[in-house]
Amino acid sequence: MKRYFAICALSAFAQAIPSDKQLLDPAWINEGRHQYRLACGGCHGNGGEGGRGPNLADGATVKRAKNERLFGAIKNGVPGTDMPGFNWDDEKTWRMVAFLRSLSAPAMQAIVPGDVENGRAIFHGKGQCTGCHMIRGGGGFIGPDLTDAGATRTVKQLREGIVAPSDRIAEGFQTVKTVAVDGTKLNGVVKNRNNYSLQVLDEGGKLHLIDAASLREINLEVKSLMPGDYKTKLSAKEIDDLVAFLAKQSVRAEAK
Ligand code: HEC
Ligand code: HEC
Repeated sequence: MKRYFAICALSAFAQAIPSDKQLLDPAWINEGRHQYRLACGGCHGNGGEGGRGPNLADGATVKRAKNERLFGAIKNGVPGTDMPGFNWDDEKTWRMVAFLRSLSAPAMQAIVPGDVENGRAIFHGKGQCTGCHMIRGGGGFIGPDLTDAGATRTVKQLREGIVAPSDRIAEGFQTVKTVAVDGTKLNGVVKNRNNYSLQVLDEGGKLHLIDAASLREINLEVKSLMPGDYKTKLSAKEIDDLVAFLAKQSVRAEAK
């Protein structure tokens, strides 16, 4: 008898807390997204970027929190703050947790609208992305290697990386413009820097080790070396296709 109760309790528990797989269900995420726009976007921003409430997309708030904690925050609110409790039924609340998880999940786990094959064609063709980015050993290296882009960036980061590259410069890719004592100019990204020398990867992909004493100016720029006009050069659909293509890039064998 005792054993029977134990099994009952266990299965009830299993039902109440969805599995990680359940939390990746596109139907749940979409339903959560819909509710989010209605109930949460006003304070947390429609893309989770934050406002009156904290950022739920890139911040540590969601990434570090356990599912149960997110569930509790939605159900009960955070007492003493503006975060209200919603007291929804459990399933509706879990769907919201699924959506919050999707906001900071790697792009490869997300549902991304867009045509992967067309994205690939743009990446290698019209977009000229391979001039600066490498995928699986092919392409340039003045920009970050994107072989594992889908596993290491969120959809939002990929999209912003394309349409607004200067908003967040990838680490190790700061733009520099130098002028030597003799007037020679060099533009590129800084790879290494100390008081006496710096390494600059130029736009042609050549690495220069420069003695700081030979330079008249070292200008570190807040602007990315990546062109900032893809938003106008490419259509919204073409950008969706590129994001869909990059979201599929992973070092794991099954990726293409
Ligand atoms: C009236 C504004 C407001 C609304 C509406 C709102 N939030 Fe919040 N939310 C906040 C504030 C403010 C905080 C920060 C609370 C604190 O200081 O810890 C917060 C915190 C959170 C946290 C972090 C809780 C934690 O454990 O630290 C989560 C997750 C969250 N909100 C999700 C949601 C979701 C999902 C919705 C919609 C169902 C929502 N919020 C609606 C204002 C709001
Ligand atoms: C002239 C060189 C150049 C071209 C062309 C270029 N990029 Fe970039 N890209 C860079 C550099 C440099 C960075 C790193 C600085 C930054 O974060 O903006 C970067 C950053 C990125 C990032 C963010 C990477 C990260 O680490 O988060 C993405 C995504 C990206 N590029 C995609 C593309 C796509 C897609 C194309 C083609 C449509 C493209 N790039 C064309 C140079 C280039």
